[in-house]
Amino acid sequence: MSKKSKEYLLEMNDITVRFPGVLALDKVHFDMYPGEVHALLGENGAGKSTIMKALAGVNRHYEGEIIWKGEPIKAESIVEQNERGISIIFQEMNLLPNLTVAENIFFGRHPTDSMGMVLWDKMNNDARELLDSIGTNIREDALIKDLTVGAMQMVEIAKALSFESDLVIMDEPTSALTNKETENLFEVIEKLKQRDVGIVYISHRLEEIDLLADRITILRDGKYILTEKKENLSREDLISNMVGREIDDFYPRVEVEVGDIALKVENLNQELNGLKDISFFARAGETTGFYGLMGAGRTELMRAIYGADHYDSGDVYIWGEKTNIKSCEDGKNKGIAFLTEDRKTQGLILDFSISENISITNIDALISNFKINLKEEKERNQELVSKLQVKTPSIQQKTLNLSGGNQQKVVICKWLNSDSNIFIFDEPTRGIDVGAKTEIYSIINSLKEEGNAVIVVTSELPELLGVSDHIYVMSNGRISGEFDNDTLATANQKSVMRYATKEY
Ligand SMILES: Nc1ncnc2c1ncn2[C@@H]1O[C@H](COP(=O)(O)OP(=O)(O)OP(=O)(O)O)[C@@H](O)[C@H]1O
Ligand SMILES: [Mg+2]
Repeated sequence: MSKKSKEYLLEMNDITVRFPGVLALDKVHFDMYPGEVHALLGENGAGKSTIMKALAGVNRHYEGEIIWKGEPIKAESIVEQNERGISIIFQEMNLLPNLTVAENIFFGRHPTDSMGMVLWDKMNNDARELLDSIGTNIREDALIKDLTVGAMQMVEIAKALSFESDLVIMDEPTSALTNKETENLFEVIEKLKQRDVGIVYISHRLEEIDLLADRITILRDGKYILTEKKENLSREDLISNMVGREIDDFYPRVEVEVGDIALKVENLNQELNGLKDISFFARAGETTGFYGLMGAGRTELMRAIYGADHYDSGDVYIWGEKTNIKSCEDGKNKGIAFLTEDRKTQGLILDFSISENISITNIDALISNFKINLKEEKERNQELVSKLQVKTPSIQQKTLNLSGGNQQKVVICKWLNSDSNIFIFDEPTRGIDVGAKTEIYSIINSLKEEGNAVIVVTSELPELLGVSDHIYVMSNGRISGEFDNDTLATANQKSVMRYATKEY
């Protein structure tokens, strides 16, 4: 063995992974030093999750060489890799919904006494300690199915840490976390580094990379592009290497003549989620941005308007007509499209093909003479998939097999295919790479130009400021601020934040 390889914790050489019709990785290199945070970057479908799943023992059919602590190994099962000291926080969560938090953390390795009886108290206590160490108050005896997506993510993190590994892979760990949870995670990462644990960090949030990464590796289209120390790469370098081109206009803007009020809400109250006295409107030809910190009530408000949840009092007008939307079906029939933030539980049927998922929202329009017009369906879906650059060999591919960000794009295709004129986008670019983000902003612009009303709920201030023609800020279930035609020019990170942190 060469001397050099000894100082690495891990070396992966010429890693190739094929799926039917897809060369997901083509001779990719990746290495790790102990105690470093190594960011793995690339567009949706670049192969980030695939290479890490090979390392974690999930993609067993990989080709190439893995050297772990100086010794060649075969990554053949996840249990074996855990025992070697490699653990992974999956991008798509992998917990058992009907078991408790503690049972999930210690699944398959429950502590037992000498008679082989499970020591439930010990297991629960150990789980509690782990959860405390990452600063979360999720109960160890809660069932997974009752948790929010963010809480599930925290359980995944606790589970990965429970192996006391030398290498922890974090695949978009913060995509569902609140700001507070994210801060806690960053503290955990700091502690792990001090213990010389190596961390592979995958994220589309470049601010996080700025904050955390020591080194960066970029993949593009399944190919290795570079590995560099962070300080040697500017933000522009990162983007152009990921995307393979320069992006000069990140938030393309179009001015459209403003039309009628498409959606008007007056004095809406909902005790369940603490929504209080909410009034706002959204006009055709405009993008209305909603900003708020986690828990401000933005998603809850949109759900109530769409008919996913009931509200207690208040009036909703659609195109000037007072309506009483009582179910999602009603919402849809009234022309509202709701693109949810959580594609896994609300947006997609993962076992169905891309094309089937896109058609689901609009099956009526495609059925004539009791037959689905397959040709038309195919053409339309193909067009949408190309427009959004969904990376897939075919629209017949199961959505399960797409990368995380490409699944999000299918959710968007699905709703673009519907007969709607009020589009609510809840965190539309979460998990989406920089290049495709700009595509999504262009789509929002075309919807505007076609005379639709667009509402964008976002937690990212630059996105809010970049896309909105009219802004509402929420705090504690209320509208705490507004920037309209006259005041939009005064909207900036500071002024928006001031409203977002307003106390009631
Ligand atoms: N089980 C599978 N079957 C078929 N194709 C797959 C499978 N898993 C991944 N792929 C394909 O391999 C490629 C790489 O996917 P991967 O999930 O690694 O992307 P990624 O870089 O993690 O993207 P994202 O940022 O969207 O999560 C994609 O084209 C994806 O569709
Ligand atoms: Mg991925």
